[in-house]
Amino acid sequence: MDLEVQSLSADCTHALGYNLGKALRGGDVVCLFGDLGAGKTALAKGVGKALAVQEPMTSPTFTFQIEYSGIARDNPVRLIHMDLYRLRYPEEVEIIGVEDAFQEDTICLIEWPGIAEDILPDDSLEIRIEGSGEEPRRIGFSSHSEAWVERLKDIIPFEY
Ligand SMILES: Nc1ncnc2c1ncn2[C@@H]1O[C@H](COP(=O)(O)OP(=O)(O)OP(=O)(O)O)[C@@H](O)[C@H]1O
Ligand SMILES: [Mg+2]
Repeated sequence: MDLEVQSLSADCTHALGYNLGKALRGGDVVCLFGDLGAGKTALAKGVGKALAVQEPMTSPTFTFQIEYSGIARDNPVRLIHMDLYRLRYPEEVEIIGVEDAFQEDTICLIEWPGIAEDILPDDSLEIRIEGSGEEPRRIGFSSHSEAWVERLKDIIPFEY
């Protein structure tokens, strides 16, 4: 499965995250790839808004992960937002307990997921953001699980 959309502004990326968030449910793992400043956190904040997260979401760059409470399709859900940028060794992935976030009642968003590639679930959704600064972003969606095609079809046709 491979889909791509364009985002012309940070607000568009946030809106894309919002629409994605409306399609998410407990157990979903979303990997956010892209360089520094690509817009991963902007998209994650849109997801948080869709899940009715009350606190302002900040970047987990220095804490590795931040947990929020939200609502997905009328059900309470945990949202765990991770940023693994500062990890250097795969052993650290185990130490900070990345795998513990892969639970049925939890939606997990992971920025800089590369270091954890060995433990990422096969059916995770991979989002790749290309572009920086004020450039438009190309945002690609892919997964080994074809189920995402159906689940994303309501959000991808949007014009961003
Ligand atoms: N189309 C766009 N989509 C997303 N962000 C954009 C866009 N155009 C400009 N921006 C700006 O780019 C920046 C993206 O920052 P953000 O913190 O989301 O990046 P990031 O990918 O999470 O980086 P990091 O790897 O440092 O965590 C913001 O300042 C935002 O306003
Ligand atoms: Mg970020």
